[in-house]
Amino acid sequence: MGNRTLAIIKPDAVGNGNSGAIIDLIIKAGFKIKAMKMVHLTRSSAEGFYAIHKERPFFGELVEFMTSGPCVPIALEKENAVEDYRKLIGATDPANADEGTIRKLFAKGIQFNAVHGSDSDENAINEIAHFFSTDELFNNDSEELIKNER
Ligand code: CMP
Repeated sequence: MGNRTLAIIKPDAVGNGNSGAIIDLIIKAGFKIKAMKMVHLTRSSAEGFYAIHKERPFFGELVEFMTSGPCVPIALEKENAVEDYRKLIGATDPANADEGTIRKLFAKGIQFNAVHGSDSDENAINEIAHFFSTDELFNNDSEELIKNER
C-alpha cells in the first residue's frame, strides 16, 4: 500500500474558481500537500501524461481540454493515498459519483470532471514525477519542525 497520489485540479475547476474549495476538502480529508503548482500544459506534456489512454476515442478531446487553461497538479501524502483520494473525488462520471464527493460537487460531466486522481501506486509515482522533481517535494517532517519553532 503506497502513501502518495497525484491530484490535478483540472482547467474547468480552476476556471470556475473552485481550486480553493477543492484544496480545502483535500486537506480536511487528511491529505498532506507534498508539492503543488499551477501550470498551463503544453500539448506534448498532456499527451505524455495521458499516454495510457492514447488509443481511447476520447483521447483527442481529453488533450484539448487539459490544454485549454491552467491546471493545478498536487502531490499528496496519506496512508492508503490512492484509494482514499479516489473515494474523496468519486466516480469519473459525476452522474455516478456519491453525494459529497468532489466530482459530485464540482464536475459538469465525464470530460469536464474537475479533478484527476492516480489509479494505482505505480501510476502515482510516475504521475508525480511528470510534474515534480524530487527536490520540489516538500518534506512534511520539516513542516512540523517549522511549526514547533514558531
Ligand atoms: P481522469 O481521472 O483524469 O483520467 C482520464 C480522463 O479521461 C478522465 O478523468 C476523464 O476526464 C476522461 N474521460 C474518461 N472517459 C471519458 C469519456 N467517455 N469521454 C470523455 N472523456 C473521458
